[in-house]
Amino acid sequence: MRIIEAANYEDLSRKAADLIAAQVILKPDCVLGLATGSTPEGTYKELVTRYEQGVLDFSQISSVNLDEYRGLSQDNDQSYRYFMNRHLFDHVNIDKARTHVPNGKEPDSDKACADYDAQILSMGGVDLQLLGIGGNGHIGFNEPCDEFVVGTHCVNLTQSTIEANARFFSSIDEVPKQAYTMGIGNIMAAKKILLLASGAGKSQAIFDTCFGPVTPHVPASVLQLHPDAVIIADTEALSLAKEKGVF
Ligand code: GLP
Repeated sequence: MRIIEAANYEDLSRKAADLIAAQVILKPDCVLGLATGSTPEGTYKELVTRYEQGVLDFSQISSVNLDEYRGLSQDNDQSYRYFMNRHLFDHVNIDKARTHVPNGKEPDSDKACADYDAQILSMGGVDLQLLGIGGNGHIGFNEPCDEFVVGTHCVNLTQSTIEANARFFSSIDEVPKQAYTMGIGNIMAAKKILLLASGAGKSQAIFDTCFGPVTPHVPASVLQLHPDAVIIADTEALSLAKEKGVF
């Protein structure tokens, strides 16, 4: 696990875009694993700018997103499909038919999850997986629990995640209580992983992820076992690690 310190959110976004751009340039038909949440917004903005400048070409890229709220349709402005269109897909020359997000409107959760695993497999796996991190150490929507779940599955969101994500909805009651998410096995199967963390609110999660034991109670800690995982964290997100003298 390699940790790169960014001075602030802007620096983090530029550095993350640099690594994704390198991936796209090295393998123009690669499969990008994409993430939502506020953290990668600046990274997507950078990628759009580079596309507009003619530096990046997304025409052969395919993508799979980590997760989707169960019950939300693609055109609900809080769905992760909508987020991806708004922040990236609508602004670059990616073929939307090659972009994939779990189907939140599939009521049969076994089917939704099995279909998504089959989709990822049929694409030959993920070349670069982008991740954010929850304040409780979750990745995708793999919440802290007693064991790692391998494949795509339906999760009950924890109260802390519901509260954290309520800021995007008009009231906390509107936050879906469940989501479909790639499992830890799907994430760990990616050839490269890039996790982003910004702000003091992530400092405990980053400390536990990078310097604590590998445990499903801190799902992101499993990345310590990945051969090519890069963490880009800003100074605030690294503050606890620095305070404890481990970084
Ligand atoms: C959600 C997403 C995660 C994301 C997390 C953190 O729960 N499912 O993929 O990493 O939020 O979001 P933020 O970047 O807004 O802190």
